[in-house]
Amino acid sequence: MGDFYVTTPIYYVNDLPHIGHVYTTLVADTVARYRRLAGDDVYFLTGTDEHGQNIERAARERGVAPIELADRVVGRYHELWAEHGVSHDDFIRTTEPRHRAGVEEMVRRIEAAGDFYVAAHEGWYCPACETFYTEKELDADRRCPVHERPTEWKSEENVFFRLSRYQGPLLALYARRPEIVRPETRLNEVRAFVEGGLKDLSVSRAGLEWGIPFPGRPGQTVYVWLDALTNYVSALGFGAGGDGGGGEAAAGDGELYRRLWAAEDATRVHLIGKDILRFHAVYWPAFLLSAGLPLPTTVWAHGWWLRDRKKVSKSSRNLVDPEPLARRFGTDAVRYFLLRDMVFGQDASFSDEAFVDRYNADLANGLGNTVSRLVTLSRKAFDGTTPPVPCDDNPVMAAAAECAAEYREAMDAYAFQRAIAALSRLLDAANQYLVEREPWKRIQEEGGSAAVSRVLWNCLEAVRIVAVGLLPAMPKTAPRVLAAIGAGAPPATLDALAWGGLANGAPLPEPEPIFPRIAKDEYLADAAAPANAAEAAGAAAGTATAEAETGTQTAGDAGASEESEDGMIDIDQFFQTELKVATVTAAERVPKSSKLLRLEVDLGGEPRQLVAGIAKEYEPESLVGRQVVVVANLQPATLMGVESQGMVLAASVDGAPVLLHPEKPVPAGTRVR
Ligand code: MSP
Repeated sequence: MGDFYVTTPIYYVNDLPHIGHVYTTLVADTVARYRRLAGDDVYFLTGTDEHGQNIERAARERGVAPIELADRVVGRYHELWAEHGVSHDDFIRTTEPRHRAGVEEMVRRIEAAGDFYVAAHEGWYCPACETFYTEKELDADRRCPVHERPTEWKSEENVFFRLSRYQGPLLALYARRPEIVRPETRLNEVRAFVEGGLKDLSVSRAGLEWGIPFPGRPGQTVYVWLDALTNYVSALGFGAGGDGGGGEAAAGDGELYRRLWAAEDATRVHLIGKDILRFHAVYWPAFLLSAGLPLPTTVWAHGWWLRDRKKVSKSSRNLVDPEPLARRFGTDAVRYFLLRDMVFGQDASFSDEAFVDRYNADLANGLGNTVSRLVTLSRKAFDGTTPPVPCDDNPVMAAAAECAAEYREAMDAYAFQRAIAALSRLLDAANQYLVEREPWKRIQEEGGSAAVSRVLWNCLEAVRIVAVGLLPAMPKTAPRVLAAIGAGAPPATLDALAWGGLANGAPLPEPEPIFPRIAKDEYLADAAAPANAAEAAGAAAGTATAEAETGTQTAGDAGASEESEDGMIDIDQFFQTELKVATVTAAERVPKSSKLLRLEVDLGGEPRQLVAGIAKEYEPESLVGRQVVVVANLQPATLMGVESQGMVLAASVDGAPVLLHPEKPVPAGTRVR
């Protein structure tokens, strides 16, 4: 066992985190927790990427200084990671002096290697990526391949990095150490890209104020990616000596750098999304080679969470906010779903239905029910304790040995889905054995016999092993499962996966539901209710509720509209949304839903049926005869089996809808503009 350094990307602070951001960090946390249990000395880093044009612009739009915006968003990240039990050892911000010292040292070293020169820089530039693209990387309309938005022609004098020099060394590196990029398909992509030829890379920006001044090049600011990538070493104390003479680090932080980065035998893993692969697998190793520094062991690129077949992102207006999911299901359920439903490395689709189904099947009915059933039976048969007689030769024991081996192999290979599936199979084997042995019948006949004890102990022992395996993924609830089955405090090592750990005759507390079942129809109706969904999107995007509400229910199609780079729409785009006054003619509750009302409205001689998520705030009778404002040209959506042919507008106050209506009565169907 040895030193293990794991990092997440550092997140931009122009937006609040969505499920795509949360995913990498939760994976990194799972890896960190697993490696600690495996006996490694783990160091886990996350942080924020705070410089650059995008952040500067986002701050200007909000009328605040960039650092104020950054502080606000960083605060949210800290809260979020605390909520999810993320066990990082450090959180780096690129605006910190220690980071600046690291970047300055990196620049000095690359400069000393003779890999910088100044030249005019021209090309197609995507401000969202903060990167230049070649003509052949763009489509016919010269749109950015990542953001699918128009790029702009840009020309300025910049510092260039001699990336072209590193084509050979990089190809040799991929051949010598193929594990440097995982999965293999991504290595192949990267290799093909490098084989296609490397152009020198512009690594400074002229006249950009919000960034680190380029040492020795007045008027130039360090390019955000050279700045950002350096976080992986600046956080360890690289450059902390501040002597500019070779990165001799100061005693405290420098020790980390020496142990985790400079040491040959430390494992260094960068977890990233596939969209930032080139930066990590081409530019970063090239910068390090130039600076004469060691390389990461592995850059592991995962796929994207998709919704409506598009990458979850603010610009696609298909955000998945982790917050309401965590509130309703618990943070561990979010972690479980993200690890179980994505093959690490490939894309996966998010839907509320898949989420609630996975939760109910695996956690409420699967693990949760098994625990309460076994604990109830054991308490009954053995006077409130775990069974008194252990058992060391039975089919569950064989299944457990297989499970533990497969689990470890899968976790070591970052195949989280397979690791969790192995645990589920053990749980299934225990349940099948339980059904075959029918201890509930035998308890009636034999009471707490040795045979009953063996059966129940075997099954509880299987649950214990499952819970141990779940500790890295579910740091809050796996310990609760262990406590519930009388297994005591969570173990410190993976040795606990071995058969035979559950004590005999240990006290068993009265079972409490750990994963309460969620009523699927009601949940889906609530999740789809406009007031709710808009609140989620508004919160995640940091936009005003009214803006989010017009965009939410339409998801994919609204996303197709031409939103400008800064999130503004023009007047024609606004008029694409037909807002009209409608008079409510009938209203009733939607059966089985606590949130939804079915409204019939008159839209100027045109009757419409609408479903609105306002049942908690409005009695149906009180609405008849009132006027409301509706989006009249919204594609119909079906909520709890009732078609909604439009959307009622409401202001959202702490999540509670307050209906909008005209200041005095107007003819039904009057356009709102
Ligand atoms: N600041 C850079 C990273 C610098 S690392 C030295 C950045 N930040 S980001 O906030 O835009 O994205 C951070 C991570 O979130 C990326 O790894 C990206 O792939 C990931 N995701 C963003 N949307 C995603 C999905 N829809 N699905 C999965 N992950 C995606 O890039």
